[in-house]
Amino acid sequence: MITVFGATGTTGAPLVDALLAKGAKVRAVTSDPAKLDALNAKGCEAVTANFTDPAALERACAGADRIYLVTPAHLDMRRWKANAIEAAKAAGVRHVVLATGLGASPKAKVTFGRWHSETQELLKQSGMDWTFVQPTYFMQNLLWQAQGIAKTGIYHDDLGGPVAWIDARDIADVAAEALTGSGHEGKTYGLTGPEALTGADIAAILSEVTGRSITCAPLSAEDSKAAMIAGGMQDEVAAAMVELASIAPKGYLAGIETTVSDVLGRPARRFRDFVAEHRDAFVQ
Ligand SMILES: NC(=O)c1ccc[n+]([C@@H]2O[C@H](COP(=O)([O-])OP(=O)(O)OC[C@H]3O[C@@H](n4cnc5c(N)ncnc54)[C@H](OP(=O)(O)O)[C@@H]3O)[C@@H](O)[C@H]2O)c1
Repeated sequence: MITVFGATGTTGAPLVDALLAKGAKVRAVTSDPAKLDALNAKGCEAVTANFTDPAALERACAGADRIYLVTPAHLDMRRWKANAIEAAKAAGVRHVVLATGLGASPKAKVTFGRWHSETQELLKQSGMDWTFVQPTYFMQNLLWQAQGIAKTGIYHDDLGGPVAWIDARDIADVAAEALTGSGHEGKTYGLTGPEALTGADIAAILSEVTGRSITCAPLSAEDSKAAMIAGGMQDEVAAAMVELASIAPKGYLAGIETTVSDVLGRPARRFRDFVAEHRDAFVQ
C-alpha cells in the first residue's frame, strides 16, 4: 500500500493516477470529506486526514509501506510535515518520498529553501528511507492567471528572468517511480523542465498557440505580493514567494536538471505542449 498525502493537489492528483496506472494499491488522503467520492472513483482507497490531526495521519499511514508527502506552501507546513513524518514512523512506514523545492538545503539562501531543508533533515533523522523530489516552478502556476490572460491578452511576469519550468505531471511521474521502483532511497532529485524560458518567451508561446497577440507585462515584487495576499496567501508565505522570485533575474532559476529523463528514460514535458493542452483556458 502507498499512501499519497495531498492527493487532490497539483502533484498528488497526477501521482495517484500514475500509481494506479502502474497497478499499485493506493490510499489517497484529503482533508475534505466532499472529495472522497471522486477519489474513490479513481480506484483508490480514499481517506480523510488533516495535517493537524496526528491520530488521523497515523490511520492514513497504517499498513502503508511507502508514502508521498507534500503540503501546500503554508506557514505551518514544517509542523504539518513533521506530524506526518511522526505518524508514518509510528505506523511502520519504510520509505517516504518528500516533495520540497529545488535547492532546498541547510545552506539555501532563500527562506523556502531553508523551510524545506528543515523537513528534509527531520526526515533523514527519522530512520525511515527517504527520497527528496525538489521541483522548480510548476507550469501549472500559469493556470492561476489563465482567466486574466484570456480576458486582457496580458501575461504578468513576476519573475523577470529565465526559469526552467517543470510540468507537475513529471514531478508525479518521478515520484511514482521512486515509490514503486528500487534504488531511489537516499536520492535527492532536483527537477526542472527541458528549457529555461523568460516571460517574453512564455508570451510568445501563448501567442503562437492561441493565435492571439499576448504581451508580457512585468509585475513588481510589491504588486505580486499584494496579489498573493489578496488571493488568501499568508503574508510571510507571500514574502517568501517574492524572495524566491527575486533570484530569477540573476539566472539562478535557469539551470536545467536531467533528472526527469535520467529516472524516466523519456524527455521532460515542454512548456509549449503544456500550453497547447490548455489552450482553451487562455482564450475567451
Ligand atoms: N507551485 C510551484 O511552482 C512550486 C515550486 C516548487 C516547490 N513547490 C512546493 O510544492 C508544494 C506544493 O505542492 P502541490 O502544489 O502538489 O500541493 P497543493 O496542490 O498546494 O496542495 C496539496 C493538497 O494539500 C491538501 N491540504 C491542504 N490543507 C491540508 C490540511 N490542513 N491537511 C491535509 N491536507 C491538506 C489539499 O487537498 P484537500 O483539499 O483535498 O485536503 C491540497 O490539494 C509546496 O511545498 C511548495 O513549496 C511548489
